[in-house]
Formats: sequence, structure tokens, C-alpha cells
Amino acid sequence: MMGQDDLKRAVAKAAIEYVPFDCIVGVGTGSTANFFIDELAKIKHKIRGAVASSEASAKRLQAHGIEVLSLNDAGNLPVYVDGADEITRHLHMIKGGGGALTREKIVAAASKKFICVCDASKLVDVLGKFPLPIEVIPMARSSVARQLVALGGQPTLREGFTTDNGNLILDVHGLSIMNPVELESTLDHIAGVVTNGLFARRGADVLLLGTPEGVKTITVDG
Ligand code: 5RP
Repeated sequence: MMGQDDLKRAVAKAAIEYVPFDCIVGVGTGSTANFFIDELAKIKHKIRGAVASSEASAKRLQAHGIEVLSLNDAGNLPVYVDGADEITRHLHMIKGGGGALTREKIVAAASKKFICVCDASKLVDVLGKFPLPIEVIPMARSSVARQLVALGGQPTLREGFTTDNGNLILDVHGLSIMNPVELESTLDHIAGVVTNGLFARRGADVLLLGTPEGVKTITVDG
């Protein structure tokens, strides 16, 4: 029987097809992204290098002998490959389970194509069962939390966790996100919020979904 790791490995392999020859690849964070990094290592002589969305991914890339460039040096990228905590058929996502949401959003924004790699458990009809991660400037923790409560959420501080940017994460429970594009903008306008984990304004372009029947390719058009 295929386990979750087998499904993640299968989508990571499928994502390699989207990496153009001689390019710099945008690389996400998390267990599925780690499988992708391991697949990338097998074709490392065919790429120029990678831009990583976290220190953890940068380390794993470098351990494989893949050059890691800063986004400032790399410029725009043809493709960004990353996982998600939840994704809908509209390819709107919740990300940030690993706390790397800000760098992920930055690298995704600089990339022409976002390829999302997930096992089938991540596909949902409505976002919000997975607590929505929000990166917050430390001095704004309480005031942001109060505003999140006013919006109907129940924020909890991710204990003992500091982001790569030196900030905190509030995980917001109890949201049923019917309009992710609007909520993403609303949350971004709260003073002290660095980034929220909704990736809806710039969602994925392609979802490679690992199922026991094989890898399914889903785009917004169906
Ligand atoms: C990290 C993320 C990850 O993409 C997300 O948490 C999915 O991780 P995994 O592949 O381990 O399920 O957003 O900040």
C-alpha cells in the first residue's frame, strides 16, 4: 500500500518535468519540498542553481551540492515548487505550517509559475480547518491577536518558534474561509502583520496531487 511519503515522492518526481533546462529554480519548504529537493539533486547538472524559501531548504540544497542564490542576485524565476497545508480546486492555499510563509510568498511572487506538490489529504472544499498561520512583528502580537478575534478567529501563539525573519507566528483557528482573496487582503492591512498564510491573490498555477491512483494534474481551468 502507498503511504503518504510515497505520494509526496511521486509528486516531487512529477514536478521535475516543469523545471526548464539551465534555469534557477524557486524551492519551497516542508516535507514535500524536501522530496523535491532530493529529486532536483538528481538533475543538478542541468540547472544553474536554486533560490530557497527558508534556511532549512537552503541547507538541504547545499548538502546536495546545489548552488543557492539570493533572490536579489537571481532575478525573476521561471518556476517555484512548494507544498501547501490546504489547497482548493481554485488553487487557493493555506501555507505556513512550517513557518516559512513570508519567504515563500516572496519567492512565489517572483516566479512565473507556481507548481504546488501535495498528497491527496491537502485538497479541501473550503480553507480554514488547518489553522491559518500569520507572521507578526513581536511588539504587535497582542494587538494583532485582538483584531483577529474581532474577525471571528481564535489565534494561538506558536510557542517557542521564531521565523527566519525574527518574528512570531499566530495560528488562527476556527475560520471558515469562503472568500480567501478578500481575507488575504484584509489580514495584510492589519498593522504588525508581516504576511498571512493565504496564498489566494497569487495562487498556484498547477497542482500535482498525489493519489493512490497516481499523480493528478489540476489547473484552475480544470
Ligand atoms: C511551510 C509550508 C509548507 O509548504 C506546508 O507546511 C506543507 O508542508 P508539508 O509538505 O510538510 O506537508 O507552507 O511553511
